[in-house]
Amino acid sequence: MAESSQAHSLPADAGRADIHCHILPALDDGAEDLEMSVAMARLAAEDGTTDLAATPHANYQFAFSPERNRELKAQLEARLDGKLRLHLGCDFHLSIENIQDALQNFGKYSLNGGRYLLVEFPDPFHPPAHERGLAQLIEAGYVPVLTHPERNRVFQTHTRLISDFIRLGCIVQVTGGAFLGSWGRAAQKNAEELLSHDLVHVIASDGHAPRNRSPRLAEAAARIAELRDEAVANALSRDNPQAILRNQELAYHPRPAPESKKTSLLARLGLAGRS
Ligand SMILES: [Fe+2]
Repeated sequence: MAESSQAHSLPADAGRADIHCHILPALDDGAEDLEMSVAMARLAAEDGTTDLAATPHANYQFAFSPERNRELKAQLEARLDGKLRLHLGCDFHLSIENIQDALQNFGKYSLNGGRYLLVEFPDPFHPPAHERGLAQLIEAGYVPVLTHPERNRVFQTHTRLISDFIRLGCIVQVTGGAFLGSWGRAAQKNAEELLSHDLVHVIASDGHAPRNRSPRLAEAAARIAELRDEAVANALSRDNPQAILRNQELAYHPRPAPESKKTSLLARLGLAGRS
C-alpha cells in the first residue's frame, strides 16, 4: 500500500462503494423505469455495496438536470428502506460545452458536489485538445476521474497518456466487469496491465441494468485480489470510492514516477513548475 488507509473516517457499516452507475429511471440509457432502478439497487446491496452514486450521462444525447436527479434519487430512496446509501454525480462527457459549464458552476456535475468529477473521453479523441480541457478542470480545483480508459481505443493504443494524465492530477476508474472479460479481451488485457502498473485508483460498475452491465462489484474485487492482493482489492472497491464520495483524499494513491521536465505533459501544456 502506498499510503495509509483512511477507512477509520468512514461510516462503521461502509462496504464497497460504486461511484459510477446509471441507476436513475428513464433519464438516459440506464434504468428504464423505477422498478428497474429498485432491482438494480437491491442487487448492488445484496452484492455488498453500501454506497452507490447515481451518475446519469451529460452528453450530446442526454441533457443533465441536477434538480431532476435529486427528485428521482428521493423517489428511489423511498423504495429502498435504507438498504443502500445513494449519492449523486454525473457521467460527464469531456466536451467543450460541458467543460465551460463545469468551470462556471463548480460542483454541478461532480460527485456529491465535491472535487471528484467523472470524465468520459470521446472515442476516438484528439489528445492535445482534451489535455487542455483536463488541465482547465484541474486548475479550477477538480480531480478528474478518467472513466473506463481500458475501453477507449485511443488509450488502448497510447497507454502512456494514462500515466501522463495521472501526473497532471487525474485518477483512473476501470470498469469492474473489464477484469472479468465482460468488455472483451482487449479491454480485459488493458485493465490487467493498468492494474499491474499501479495505474488504477478505483473500480466501478458503470451499471446500466440488472443483468447485462449489472451494478455488481464483488466478483471484480475478488479477481483483483487474485491478480494483486486483498489490500489493493479493498482499496479500489471500498476505501478509495468511499473517500471519493466524501470528498476526502484517497486512501491508496499510487503515482507514476516523475518524468523529465522536457518531455512531461505539464511542460508540453506550458504548466511545468506549477504545483
Ligand atoms: Fe457510464
